[in-house]
Amino acid sequence: MYGLINEAMRRLVTEQAGAQAWTNIANRAETAETFVGLLYYDDDITYRLVGAASVELDTPADELLRAFGNFWSSRVGPENYQDILGATGTSVTTVLSNMDLMHARIQNLYPELVPPSFAVSENFDGGVMVEYRSHREGLAPFVVGLLEGLGDLYKTPTTVTHERPRSQEQPYDLFRVQIGE
Ligand code: HEM
Repeated sequence: MYGLINEAMRRLVTEQAGAQAWTNIANRAETAETFVGLLYYDDDITYRLVGAASVELDTPADELLRAFGNFWSSRVGPENYQDILGATGTSVTTVLSNMDLMHARIQNLYPELVPPSFAVSENFDGGVMVEYRSHREGLAPFVVGLLEGLGDLYKTPTTVTHERPRSQEQPYDLFRVQIGE
């Protein structure tokens, strides 16, 4: 994944646990400590950082991924990518409905991008069902955090349930996204 992902992880860990914790994590993962946002790095580096952070911070990897997703949507997105995020939508559902357009648009800047795909498959009273497709494994907890973080960003408290994991018959993860109280 692009270095900007690893860099955002560095920022979150440094903010919450301090610079030394991040140095220990990078050492444990046998990676560099800093990354160039515009450079593409092997996904394995990102997964190793998450694994090392789990050991170093004594926190399950899924919990870290969820916190990182929340941080991405509610802090990194609005602070670093204000323009593109603002142009994508102004609520949880509009952003989600246009997420593929947004990732496709930034492909100019990040030509090696391998983006996920989101689809709103159903609207129900108070929320939506969301399908998430990815070439990668194990990122459903990250998506939960991303969706909750969008709820925080737009001040519409959002409850996310990982309704059904992907399988051979169903090539996507399904989330129930309840928006507002
Ligand atoms: C706000 C601006 C955003 C930017 C600039 C951005 C950019 C990126 C980049 C560079 C990657 C790494 C993919 C790669 O390097 O191949 C990525 C991955 C991802 N993005 Fe975004 N993104 C943004 C917002 C969002 C939001 C709001 C969501 C959630 C709905 C989202 C969902 C994801 C997911 C789930 C991945 C992990 C890759 C995968 O599942 O295969 N992104 N994004």
